[in-house]
Amino acid sequence: MIASEIDWAALRVAALDAMGRAYAPYSDFPVGAAALVDDGRVVSGCNVENASYGVGLCAECALVSSLIMTGGGQLVAFTCVDGNGGILMPCGRCRQLLYEHSAPGMLLETVSGVKTIDEVLPDAFGPRQLADYRASAASS
Ligand code: THU
Repeated sequence: MIASEIDWAALRVAALDAMGRAYAPYSDFPVGAAALVDDGRVVSGCNVENASYGVGLCAECALVSSLIMTGGGQLVAFTCVDGNGGILMPCGRCRQLLYEHSAPGMLLETVSGVKTIDEVLPDAFGPRQLADYRASAASS
C-alpha cells in the first residue's frame, strides 16, 4: 500500500480516542496508537501504567493484543499520538512488537514523515531468523 492510499486522518482520530482512554497516572503521559489491518479493520490501544512502574504497558502492546483478539492479520499502517495529539515514535521495544505483526513495508506516521517499518527498525530480528536457524539446524 502507498502512503497516499491511507486515511491517516481517520487513523489519527482512532489514536486520539485511544489516547483519551489511557491509564497513565504515574507519567501523566497518555499515549494512543491505531493501525490499519490488511483486511480493513482498524485496531487501537492506549498505555496502561502500574504502581510497579516497570510493568506498565505501552499503547502498542494493547494494539497488538487487540489485533490478535479481533482476528489477527497484518498491520499495514500505524500512527501513535501523545497527550497533545502530536505524533509519537514507538519506543524500541514497541517497534519490535509491531514488526512481528507488520505486513511487508508497513507504513508509520513519524515525526519526520511517513516511513516504513524497515526504516525505523533496520536489520530487524524476527520470525524469519528463527525459521532460518531451525532449517539450518535440521539440515546439519
Ligand atoms: N509509551 C507508549 O505507550 N508507547 C511508546 O511507544 C512510548 C512510551 C508510554 C509508556 C509510558 O506509559 C508513557 O508512555 C511514558 O513513557
